[in-house]
Amino acid sequence: MSQRTLVLLKPDTVRRGLMGEVLGRYEAKGLTVVAMDLRRIDPAQADRHYSEHVDRDFYPPLRDFVTSGPLVAMVLEGDEAVEVVRMLNGATDGRQAQPGTIRGDLSVSNRENLVHGSDSAESAEHEISLWFPDLA
Ligand code: RTP
Ligand code: MG
Repeated sequence: MSQRTLVLLKPDTVRRGLMGEVLGRYEAKGLTVVAMDLRRIDPAQADRHYSEHVDRDFYPPLRDFVTSGPLVAMVLEGDEAVEVVRMLNGATDGRQAQPGTIRGDLSVSNRENLVHGSDSAESAEHEISLWFPDLA
């Protein structure tokens, strides 16, 4: 069953010149780009995106990070796209993520971990409407 998911190439991906490397992994896997946009977000959009984390200790530096420069927001589509993207991304903490994953190969940080992928079909639907209201 084809499914859509929301992916962010976070500001560290853009800053480090890894957009092509990371996007290439999703494309090589066979996912389709449905929408893609380079943009800067304000703190309010960060709060909406990370609403489940806004009260956590780690959130203020996370908000500073995701608003620190341009990021790439995209919608990817494919069979079980939510789970497939999470597998390609790897574990949250780049230091622990398996080699072969985006974070495992390219990040040594728990915060600057390059990518975001929706964590369920419900989150994907919500996040797509938040980032690409015209697509919903
Ligand atoms: P994401 O939402 O970005 O795809 O990452 P995730 O599901 O693997 O991780 P999640 O638990 O949703 O955390 C969201 C983002 O917050 C940052 N984080 N920092 N203890 C910390 O310093 C900490 N924990 C999480 C990461 O950037 C993580 O991707
Ligand atoms: Mg998450």
